[in-house]
Amino acid sequence: MRRVVFNQKGGVGKSSIACNLAAVSAVQGFRTLLIDLDAQANSTHYLTGLSGEEIPTGIAGFFRQTLSSGPFGRKGRVDIYETPFDNLHLVTATAELAELQPKLEQKHKINKLRKLLRELAEDYDHIYLDTPPALNFYTISALIAADRVLIPFDCDSFSRNALYSLLAELEELKEDHNPDLQVEGIVVNQFQPRATLPQQMLDELLAEGLPVLPVNLMSSVKMRESHHACMPLIYLDARHKLTRQFVELHDLLNRD
Ligand SMILES: Nc1ncnc2c1ncn2[C@@H]1O[C@H](COP(=O)(O)OP(=O)(O)OP(=O)(O)O)[C@@H](O)[C@H]1O
Ligand SMILES: [Mg+2]
Repeated sequence: MRRVVFNQKGGVGKSSIACNLAAVSAVQGFRTLLIDLDAQANSTHYLTGLSGEEIPTGIAGFFRQTLSSGPFGRKGRVDIYETPFDNLHLVTATAELAELQPKLEQKHKINKLRKLLRELAEDYDHIYLDTPPALNFYTISALIAADRVLIPFDCDSFSRNALYSLLAELEELKEDHNPDLQVEGIVVNQFQPRATLPQQMLDELLAEGLPVLPVNLMSSVKMRESHHACMPLIYLDARHKLTRQFVELHDLLNRD
């Protein structure tokens, strides 16, 4: 299973959700890999505590090799980082991704990640891809490489408009590049059940037939604490309500 967590809107919880679902997966005994495709490297920091120059080259190193290998050159290899958590491995992101992007686009390297993931799928049960807040080279590479896409959503009226164009773009990408891609659905994050507006918006989305998943992730300071401690929720506080919601979401998404 190769799942990409994507929404081009910033700050909706992509990295938090990718890392926490991956952590639940690892705790349940699945061999799990998270690939960070965002030059901001938030997931990398969250799962390792590393930042800046300390971070190994990871996915940027892989993409850099694809630029120098000709049609008969060696295959790009990727360095895998073992996080402090059992069963949870990481391919790190660095700021170098930003400078590589135009070169990768120019040389049409859009399918390289797909090939890499096919190889990695032999070693891992679950692969999660965290994406930057843009429909750019890395995001499209991920959507071509994955078999599932999960869309985090905050109940904000601006992101609601963007949601429709996002779903249309995913349909187009599916048709043109990856017919196997399954849009798993929209997961509402930072949900406040007692506030009227988010509930109303959620009801409207459901009434319009949008694929909203039946598990909402609550807003909790525990998430910030978890980022600060560089420890996903399942390790920090397994009994917390938000942790239990992640477990429920994980099990719902992986029941087949
Ligand atoms: N359920 C939650 N409860 C409280 N805070 C949350 C929750 N989910 C995410 N956050 C906070 O919201 C902020 C943005 O989350 P995150 O970095 O996961 O979003 P993102 O979509 O990956 O952002 P970007 O688009 O910049 O990559 C973080 O500070 C995070 O701690
Ligand atoms: Mg992020």
